[in-house]
Amino acid sequence: MQAGCSRQQINTNDVVHLSHKNECMAYPYQLTSLEQYKADYKKSVEDPEGFWSGVAEHFQWRKKWDTVLNWNFKEPKVEWFAGAKLNITENCIDRHLATLGEKPAIIWEPNNPEERVRVVTYNRLHKRVCQVAQMLKNNGVKKGDRVCIYMGMVPELAYAVLGCARIGAIHSVIFGGFSAQSIADRLDDAKAEYIITCDGAYRGGKDIPLKSVIDDALIGNKTVKKVIVYTRTRTPVSMIKGRDIWWEDEMDIAEDQVEKNGVVTFPAEEMDAEDPLFILYTSGSTGKPKGVVHSSAGYMVWTTYTFVNVFQYKPGAIHFCTADIGWITGHSYIVYGPLCAGATSMMFEGIPTWPDAGRFWDIIDKHKVNILYTAPTAIRSLMSFGLEPLQGKDLSSLTTLGTVGEPINEEAWHWYDENIGKKKCPIVDTWWQTETGGCLISNFAGITPAKPSWATLPMPGVQPVLVDEKGEEVTEKDEHGITKGNLCIKAPWPSILRTTYGDHERCRTNYFATYENLYFTGDGALRDEQGNYRITGRVDDVLNVSGHRIGTAEVENAINMHAGVVESAVVGYPHDVKGQGIYAYVIYNGHHGDDNLRRQDILLTVTRIIGPIAKPDKIQFVSGLPKTRSGKIMRRILRKIAEGETENLGDTTTLLDPGVVDEIKNGKL
Ligand code: WT7
Repeated sequence: MQAGCSRQQINTNDVVHLSHKNECMAYPYQLTSLEQYKADYKKSVEDPEGFWSGVAEHFQWRKKWDTVLNWNFKEPKVEWFAGAKLNITENCIDRHLATLGEKPAIIWEPNNPEERVRVVTYNRLHKRVCQVAQMLKNNGVKKGDRVCIYMGMVPELAYAVLGCARIGAIHSVIFGGFSAQSIADRLDDAKAEYIITCDGAYRGGKDIPLKSVIDDALIGNKTVKKVIVYTRTRTPVSMIKGRDIWWEDEMDIAEDQVEKNGVVTFPAEEMDAEDPLFILYTSGSTGKPKGVVHSSAGYMVWTTYTFVNVFQYKPGAIHFCTADIGWITGHSYIVYGPLCAGATSMMFEGIPTWPDAGRFWDIIDKHKVNILYTAPTAIRSLMSFGLEPLQGKDLSSLTTLGTVGEPINEEAWHWYDENIGKKKCPIVDTWWQTETGGCLISNFAGITPAKPSWATLPMPGVQPVLVDEKGEEVTEKDEHGITKGNLCIKAPWPSILRTTYGDHERCRTNYFATYENLYFTGDGALRDEQGNYRITGRVDDVLNVSGHRIGTAEVENAINMHAGVVESAVVGYPHDVKGQGIYAYVIYNGHHGDDNLRRQDILLTVTRIIGPIAKPDKIQFVSGLPKTRSGKIMRRILRKIAEGETENLGDTTTLLDPGVVDEIKNGKL
């Protein structure tokens, strides 16, 4: 076969016509009342092993566990369901085939509304995942190997993720907005040997040349042996002999191997409960992203349990999580949680504002979506277009709304409630993190009460505590009955991160060493007298920009790469749509005279080093930075100035050069 010829093939097999709704399949662990929540919460704290083994009974195991939980936060070491054998894809796919085989697992809505929708049934998903697993095996991928996945939001991305899980390879999905340099660092850290990518990806009006970014990332790489390329955009690509192969060709070969007389099989690898399922890189307060590692069994139980309970999923309902699979939200609530629950998961390739700001509402109307799970930043951005994009859109299929990624302000909450949910749909505000694997604090739709801008109550099994700087538990209440502190969790829940890839000590120092015997979230929080939590934002040097986590040190490193930059300091400031914007103070010594040109150059540098998501919104050139005599940058002052505060900057007398503060204040953008 000539290289590239299979790019002509378009896969038409993934279209089926849907007949009837799913027959009823109950979830024995689905809570149905506030009283039951309280009872289960109590049980989960008093007898976590009894509680979680009761939930885990309802999954498919090759062999059940010897012990439910072993843990200590000192090392840290956490094991859930140790001794059990399973494969998560048998839970996501195989066990549904007899009852849900012809029901939709994934409904894919393309970027371009004119393009054909693809409906992937559980049977079809099974076949595709078996093919991917076979394709990976044919190319030498084995259990434990790291496979980096850098693709757009096409169904093949879900097949790739599940195909890895089927053979026990550890996937590491990298969001399509990261730069070649970011990918190179991650490939290196994970010592990845395989990559699955696309020629390009469509996002709104843009066509992103993913394969070409991968080619740049691979310059100097020593570990990657094969790159599998799926055709999406027909963007010209350079295929390197011996390294790069076409997905379509390989899937054709695999098809003949997995399908005999119409029967599809590919035996799933038997995994230990604690075998790693995936690595997902996330930013922290240091310059280098961490590879958060999740295990197989605990992650499976938690994502499914929380999916079914938080959203109160009912069989047959269509769940639309608008995140990208490149982030944890997509892993847990587009792929693993919904599929384990036998749900129908909507997957959207595009963006909320293209071709116009009615795109979400069109999708909901067209597919009769029941659950919409999105980010506050998307809600605020859509709010800014007014109500016109909602005209003529039938949203009556919606039963449940959700938000994730950042605190939701009350204005956005009410807009969502009134205009999207028509005051009939409960809104779940789900607080969690890449490290937590799934929701930890959230109301349960229609079961436990919502409180605008509050994430509310902990899931069963989650024991939050608020501590002060010294790690002492805070219990005092202010005059409104509010307790305030740094948010920690006392004991492990099944999907807590197990390590940071290749560096367990880093996991310990980052999450388990700040406060003894506690998992530290990095967030500040309030608690009211009813026990509801409100997350107030990060208390470390991590920004949350449009729901994406970015470390200030990482952005500073990128800015400092620019030849003309001497030093920089990055802080967050309140941004109407993004939640937080990125404000950079830069000392520049280059010869370029024009500020705007310098800014463009710096933005280009940041885009090259991290990706467009880390571009500063504001760059202020300064002659110095406020530093203590020991040389530490006083970020508190810079943060206040960026926030527009000019008066109460606190004590500046300990600064090396107090004069610099006035200069910075006067030059504020
Ligand atoms: C950080 C985690 C969880 C998936 C998406 C982000 C913030 C997340 C909420 C919420 C207030 C929230 C926290 C957290 N955050 N959800 N409902 N209310 N803040 O995952 O990139 O790992 O970021 O996002 O600050 O620590 P992530």
